[in-house]
Amino acid sequence: MTHSAYVTPIVDSTSVFRADIFKGKVLFCTGGGSGICRGMTEAMMRHGASATIVGRKLDRLTQAAEELGKATGQTCIPAQADVRDPTSLREAVSQTIEKFGKIDYVICGAAGNFLAPISEMSENAFKTVMEIDTIGTFNTIKATINYVRAAKGAYIHVSATLHYNGTPFQVHVSAAKAGVDALSAVLAVEEGPHGVRSNVIAPGPISGTEGMDRLSPKSATGWKPAYPAGRLGDIKDIANATVFLFSNAASYITGQVLPVDGGAEHLRSQF
Ligand code: HXC
Repeated sequence: MTHSAYVTPIVDSTSVFRADIFKGKVLFCTGGGSGICRGMTEAMMRHGASATIVGRKLDRLTQAAEELGKATGQTCIPAQADVRDPTSLREAVSQTIEKFGKIDYVICGAAGNFLAPISEMSENAFKTVMEIDTIGTFNTIKATINYVRAAKGAYIHVSATLHYNGTPFQVHVSAAKAGVDALSAVLAVEEGPHGVRSNVIAPGPISGTEGMDRLSPKSATGWKPAYPAGRLGDIKDIANATVFLFSNAASYITGQVLPVDGGAEHLRSQF
């Protein structure tokens, strides 16, 4: 298959949604100091939300929070926590409540990844990614659920598409993200009657991210698959889906997994 002449455009959510739809709302985002989750946070702030970004590296978080505040005119605070450690997560939640008084939306985005075949991956390496991605998501839900329930808010979990098939060198992340998808489905069913929604965004190949840098050795050789959308994904593509899924326009959407991958899932044989 050759590249399509048609390339889908990259747009800003502000060209589609009003700038004030999240005015007065508060976002709590793990992994928000960089990459996709930072982009998701920025988009929410551009529509009026305040935010707490959570991660392990305080320097990076502090700088990101300042930059996000300047770029959007909203307030963003950094909170240092490791999602594997429930105590530090609860502290990050306390800081958020102290600053903003509530939590409406949660993005469970903290994740770890590297390429390794099963035969060479240590037990601890597998366990580490399960602990960050799956148990970290559970810990984040536990630490925030009472606040999100009080706000009748919503969760978005950042997953992947690679566990829909057998993706080589990704056994840890495949198992971990399958767990994340399952957590979200149960959360949606249990918490729906309390007014809480839970959905998953499954990014495909997103350019300019740490995940893509680590995971695409083929791109270094000049190999390019013919993506149906005609291009790699952009962080804005994930940010736009985030704005939609948290907005009232998605009020009847819960328990779903939304791949945002330009159709790449259907071209797995080329990856
Ligand atoms: C093999 C590795 C490894 C590697 C670490 N390990 N890196 N094994 N290849 N490249 C092993 C270590 O040897 C150790 O096992 C165990 O993993 C734990 O490593 P630590 O460094 O002690 O853990 P920690 O400091 O907690 O680091 C966690 C990490 C780290 C996941 C290993 O690399 C990380 O946080 N990376 C940055 C986050 C990231 O990549 N984000 C993007 C995610 S993208 P032993 O046996 O030696 O003790 C994503 C999207 C997926 O998730 C979908 C994309 C299409």
